[in-house]
Amino acid sequence: MKIFQLQDLNNFDVKEIFKSNAVVIPTETVYGLAARIDNEEALKSIYKIKGRPSDNPLIVHVSSISMLENLIDQEIPLEYRILMEKFWPGPLTLLFKAKASVSKTVTGNSDFVAVRMPRNPLLRELISRLDCPLAAPSANTSGKPSPTQLSHVIHDLGEKVPFYIDDGSCEVGLESTIFGIINRECILLRPGGITKEQIEEAIGKEILVKNKVSKEEKTFCPGQKYKHYSPSIPVYLFKGNDWSSNMIKAMESLKDIRVGLLRRSNIAYQIEFHKIFELGATLPEVSRNLFSGLRSLETDCDAIFVLEVEQTEEGLAIMDRLEKASSFIVQ
Ligand code: TXA
Ligand code: MG
Repeated sequence: MKIFQLQDLNNFDVKEIFKSNAVVIPTETVYGLAARIDNEEALKSIYKIKGRPSDNPLIVHVSSISMLENLIDQEIPLEYRILMEKFWPGPLTLLFKAKASVSKTVTGNSDFVAVRMPRNPLLRELISRLDCPLAAPSANTSGKPSPTQLSHVIHDLGEKVPFYIDDGSCEVGLESTIFGIINRECILLRPGGITKEQIEEAIGKEILVKNKVSKEEKTFCPGQKYKHYSPSIPVYLFKGNDWSSNMIKAMESLKDIRVGLLRRSNIAYQIEFHKIFELGATLPEVSRNLFSGLRSLETDCDAIFVLEVEQTEEGLAIMDRLEKASSFIVQ
């Protein structure tokens, strides 16, 4: 494998490294495994490398509005215009009616294409040099926590990918928010880097949150059906007023098991843990550190304890990931 630094963009041949394969890219949310949307073989390899179900479509990353316009078969609604003006470039993905020319490998055979404009200026420069949008899911093995540092990606994908582009730790740490207007309804399909409150304030109306579906339910966001963000050891998510005594009881029942704590640093815990990973105190800090914490405790613990956070602002996305990652919810 070969590793390039994003800041050295002028010193490597971008077109060459994207010519015939998928490449790992840094974004402000999480690392992505990216392919040109006009290279069918490279697109297909993304599913193979990640072990991703073939009906789970890919988010398309653009560097300009004209690049977006080439992908979509609709007028851009006023709400989207407002959101793009306010939050692009940034961690907000919007669902559009796709042109027939957009690869079905990208759309997962649906009529929609999910598009975002990433925040890193050099990544946008890279996309603009390619003169082609990049489709990229998170660069983890399917089902595992998303990678927020290059070392996470190398751990999961190793030599399966020939080229990696590094840009340090991801600033947001959770994936982009996915928002769509479907049958005139404003729907938040995945909470993420831009909060529900920010969207509602910008467009001046309430939006529906539909981030959970059962296996049988029809969904506009196929990724919701699958198991996600799960380390290889059980995660215990504690909720409600009795969390402290419940933690003590759970710890007693797990004798001889090395329990790691994902710790919100402004909270006092009354138990000794095998290892503690500091998430920070504020919700943006917890977002930034969450996936790193899950991965770090996985290496030398047998179970992970974590306490719920308030479901406001970034807390909605944090709890979405924690609920999907957890094996046990204790309350
Ligand atoms: O922050 C992010 O969005 C990161 C970085 C790399 O940009 N990407 C990311 O991709 O999180 P991924 O594949 O891990 O999650 C994409 C989600 C999936 O749940 C998928 O079902 C949904 O977006 N999605 C993608 N295209 C869609 C489409 N055309 N219609 C409905 N849902 C779509
Ligand atoms: Mg993912």
